Amino acid sequence: MKFELKGNDPQSKARAGVLTTDHGVIETPIFMPVGTVGSVKGVHQRELKNDINADVILGNTYHLYLRPQTEILEQAGGLHKFINWDRNILTDSGGYQVYSLSANRKIKEEGVKFKSHIDGSYHTFTPENVMEIQRIIGADIIMAFDECTPYPCDYNYAKRSMHMTHRWLDRCINHLEKLPFKYGYEQSFFPIVQGSTYKDLRKQSAEYIANAGAVGNAIGGLSVGEPADEMYAMTEVVCDILPEDKPRYLMGVGTPINILENIALGVDMFDCVMPTRNARNGMLFTAHGTINIKNKKWEADFSPLDEMAMTYVDTEYSKAYLRHLFSVNERLAMQIATIHNLGFYLWLVRESRKHILAGDFRTWKDMMVKQMDKRL
Ligand code: GUN
Repeated sequence: MKFELKGNDPQSKARAGVLTTDHGVIETPIFMPVGTVGSVKGVHQRELKNDINADVILGNTYHLYLRPQTEILEQAGGLHKFINWDRNILTDSGGYQVYSLSANRKIKEEGVKFKSHIDGSYHTFTPENVMEIQRIIGADIIMAFDECTPYPCDYNYAKRSMHMTHRWLDRCINHLEKLPFKYGYEQSFFPIVQGSTYKDLRKQSAEYIANAGAVGNAIGGLSVGEPADEMYAMTEVVCDILPEDKPRYLMGVGTPINILENIALGVDMFDCVMPTRNARNGMLFTAHGTINIKNKKWEADFSPLDEMAMTYVDTEYSKAYLRHLFSVNERLAMQIATIHNLGFYLWLVRESRKHILAGDFRTWKDMMVKQMDKRL
């Protein structure tokens, strides 16, 4: 993997870069649509490519391990072939999914024992087997196995957990060295900074992670319920320590405003279920605020979904039509809303990149944040 910085915003810490892997080029800042079980819910790969123009999508180790299971993915020749996606894929390690299981898992030094949400069967993830599974899935970027702490989290728990995540990181790295690439292309490994909402822990963790010398680095444990200002304070501390010349990935973030604020602090990569999940509930993100398309006020509004026309659905369908599709429970409603939201998120990061390169990102960002902080 290669990462080149192409420009910095003079009024903030925002950067524009180019990340190149064996599956192509990713211009940063980037948003990565979430495709948990090998599909971005409701969107064809063809639309992801031609209409939304996603350069990289996410998969989840936890879900793919349970279904279709690693043997099937191995027989398919890896996830790219299985789902017919020849651009980039990043897989999360399962650290976050296991955290979401809360009542159904036990975390120990060796690893995490968890109960499947599908059939109640018991499984164990360790740093070692998670690296093996991610080799078989075959994503271009694979993540360290970590513990994502909840919010709020008491200081002593956060500290102990962070140290365990660091020990797990060493185990991931040692084990990966023994595992060759499976499918003839390179996989890049990203470690994850933890430390909850404590600046001193975040600092310590960022130093540890920076020292591991990986090709890219991630920030985890945020967007778990903390106020946005606390999130920004943590990203700032961490970005100031993580190496300048490597991509920084903020996991699970966030709203359009969160994304712009974190770009301003030096983050390059984002993923979040928000544009896809909220679309399925009728929430549309736009440059002028959010829309609840189920609202009666759109019943006879025949104007295009979004005048800014980031994807074809924005001009080909009206607000009234999409509201109707939601009210009669048509699946097409979710598909249209998802394409719109992903088109908007990708537009937002591409526009950010343009403004970083033009040197006026900070001014544009402040204007956009104000503009988007509305319900239409
Ligand atoms: N996704 C969102 N936050 C996290 C995190 O802290 N760890 C992992 N592995 N994935 C995440």
